[in-house]
Amino acid sequence: MDKVCIQGGTSLNGEVVVSGAKNACMAMMAASLLTDEVCILRNVPQLRDVDFFIQLLQTLGVEIEALEPHTWKLQAKQVVYEAPYDLVRKMRASVCVMGALIGRLRRASLPLPGGCIIGNRPIDLHLKGFQKLGCSVSMEAGIVQISADHLQGNSVFLGGRFGSTVTGTANLLMAAVCAPGTTTIESAACEPEIVDLCQLLQQMGADIEGIGSPTLKIVGKKSLHGFDYTVVGDRIEAGTFLLAGLVTQGNVKVVGCPPQFLSALLHVLESIHAEISYHPSVPSIEVFPCLERLIPFEITTLPFPGFPTDLQAQMCVLGICIPGISLITERIYPQRFMHLAELQRLGAHILLEDSTAILQGGSALSGSEVMASDLRASAALYLAGLAAEGTTVIHRVYHVDRGYEAFDQKLRNVGAKIQRVEDH
Ligand code: EPU
Repeated sequence: MDKVCIQGGTSLNGEVVVSGAKNACMAMMAASLLTDEVCILRNVPQLRDVDFFIQLLQTLGVEIEALEPHTWKLQAKQVVYEAPYDLVRKMRASVCVMGALIGRLRRASLPLPGGCIIGNRPIDLHLKGFQKLGCSVSMEAGIVQISADHLQGNSVFLGGRFGSTVTGTANLLMAAVCAPGTTTIESAACEPEIVDLCQLLQQMGADIEGIGSPTLKIVGKKSLHGFDYTVVGDRIEAGTFLLAGLVTQGNVKVVGCPPQFLSALLHVLESIHAEISYHPSVPSIEVFPCLERLIPFEITTLPFPGFPTDLQAQMCVLGICIPGISLITERIYPQRFMHLAELQRLGAHILLEDSTAILQGGSALSGSEVMASDLRASAALYLAGLAAEGTTVIHRVYHVDRGYEAFDQKLRNVGAKIQRVEDH
């Protein structure tokens, strides 16, 4: 297991090219299960989660070949419906194969993915949706068994206590594009990654209306074609680097993520007087040194186009760098606050009231030993380490490799002093 040592207190300056979106590409790779034709996916990030997902698809029968470092050829000539526990347990995104297996084989058998450190993560909405399409769902020894004698389009509602479900929408889409008749998904997720998936499915010949809205209308097709598609840029990676620029008093330009995907973040940053410029045509977003004039903020995480939960931990770091009290309420995963205790080790003053972090910002941060607990919490610890004086050591740093391509290197390219060493 590795740890990273960050020598903080240096401004980050320069350009970062974002990789393809992690949370788009796994559902897109799963879409290759819907056809026996060749599928090419470009701009796939090099991540541990993608490696696991490729292994999972291979066990389901997909032939996969790397054409270039970020380009994969996938072909699912023969598919099996059973996913092995060992791979599914490693990654929550494994649930994305369910919808595609149902679409192709009318059958899926998958171990329950379970919860994770960011809180309880049920799949009840996915399963209710499949039932609406005519599937029977049962659970045997921790394995979800789904099968349909007659898959049939229907009206499906995907709203839950915490809003819609992103992977649930991806799953229902992939079953519905192959279900005879018309399916209407109400309260569908509107995240850019879902829009990207819909566009890929359209390239395969799917008939989908309402893309980007909470109501998707799908007319099922008998068969679908292959695709050659380029994954959209990762908005969470882009947001993470912009916040790294701000907390280090730097000038960071991120290239490759359309600014409209980050409008909630950009709106908050503008309202607290951050100096930002963006160019939708490139696309690029740039932040300039302005930390001393920023004012405290109040945000609540919400489904898109609201403030993304996947940038909540990183925003906590901005909050502790701005003098005054900032409030951050988590409405998607109310328990996603494991990073707070670690930020306190660096000298941050934070209280947690239910699912609201109360950040008393402005005290000097000083380097410390901290422990990464999940992907976004790890990114937040990197940012805090970069903003702090002295050396910060982050243990269990493997979490960051699950979702950020070459994170250390990209940060070093803009001036960060980071070293990765073996943790004994
Ligand atoms: N929920 C239910 N029932 C369900 C499904 C979800 O109650 O059947 C609840 C969840 O517990 C949560 C909320 O609904 O409170 C939203 O969950 P969602 O299903 O949208 O999350 P997800 O699809 O499992 C994806 C991303 C997450 C991201 C969330 C929210 C992937 C692989 N993961 O998860 O990404 O936080 O949407 O935007 O797409 C990350 O990248 O660090 C990450 C955790």
